[in-house]
Amino acid sequence: MSLSVVATIDGMRRTLAPLRREGKVIGLVPTMGALHAGHGRLMELARRETDCVVVSVFVNPTQFNDQQDYAKYPRTLPRDVEFCQALGAELVFAPDAAEMYPQPATSFVEVAGVSERLCGEFRPGHFRGVATVVAKLFHIVQPDRAYFGEKDAQQLAVIRRMVRDLDIPVTVVGVPTVREPDGLALSSRNQRLSPEERSLAPAVYRTLQRIRSRIADGAGDPREIRQDAVAELERVPGMRVEYLEIVDPEEMRPVGRIEGPVLAAAAVWLGSTRLIDNQLCAPANASPSGRLPPEKALRRPTK
Ligand code: PAF
Repeated sequence: MSLSVVATIDGMRRTLAPLRREGKVIGLVPTMGALHAGHGRLMELARRETDCVVVSVFVNPTQFNDQQDYAKYPRTLPRDVEFCQALGAELVFAPDAAEMYPQPATSFVEVAGVSERLCGEFRPGHFRGVATVVAKLFHIVQPDRAYFGEKDAQQLAVIRRMVRDLDIPVTVVGVPTVREPDGLALSSRNQRLSPEERSLAPAVYRTLQRIRSRIADGAGDPREIRQDAVAELERVPGMRVEYLEIVDPEEMRPVGRIEGPVLAAAAVWLGSTRLIDNQLCAPANASPSGRLPPEKALRRPTK
C-alpha cells in the first residue's frame, strides 16, 4: 500500500474499515508534525509491530494555553509527508482545526491527579487538550497500538491512565527518547533555539544525568538533589527553571524520600523556548529497567 494523505474523519473511516475487516493490525503515531528522528523512531517501531502505520499530523489548538505558542508552532506538512513515506507509513491523517473541531467543543477528557502536576501546573488545560484530542484520534483511527515518546513522560502517563479508566481498546507503547550526540532530547521546539541557546541546551540532560548518578550512588533526599540541580541549571546564561522535580513515575507526585525508581523531570526556558526532559533514576539496589513502567496490557495480543 502506498502512502495516502487523508484530511477528513469520514475519509479515514472509509480507508481503514476494509483493512480492519481483513484483520490488519493498525498502529497510530499521533504527532503535531515538524517530524524529526524522534518521531521516526516511533514510526519504525510501529512499522515492525503492525500492518498499517497511520501518522496523524495535527497541531491541536486546545492543548496550547498560549495562543502565540500555537501560532508559532512549526507547520511543515509537505516535508512531513515525505518523511512518513520514507519510513514506510501507509496513511497520514492531516485534518485542519475546522475538521477536528467544527463547533466549539463542549465535551472534554479530564484525567485528574496525574494531569495536575509538573507541566499541568504551569500549562493549565494542556493535558485536557491532549487527552481530548488523543481520545478523538483513538475513536477515528481505532488503532490496535499507539506510539508515544517517553520524552513526554507525563503525557504518556496521562494517556495510559485515560486508556485504562475509559477502557479504550488500544495498547499504548512508550518509546525511549531520541537524543542528539550531545544529549539534547529531540523536539520540534529545538528549531527555535538560536545557535548560542542550542549550545547551552544540553545542560538539561547533563544535570538530569548527574541526578541519576547521585541517586544510583545512594543519595536519598530529593530536596537536596533538587536544590543543587536547580542551582546548576540557573547558572547557565539565559536558562530559567520552570520546574525540576523528583516524582514517582506513575502518579508524577513528588517523593519524600528516594527508595525505589523515580523520575527526575524538568521544564526549563531558554530564552523564549521551553524545553522538557526527564530521566528514570533508581538507587543501585532497585535495579531500574531504565524504562517507564507500562500500564497493564489492556488488549488482545497483537502481532
Ligand atoms: O506529543 C504530541 O505531539 C501531542 O501532544 C499529541 C500527542 C500528538 C497530541 O496532540
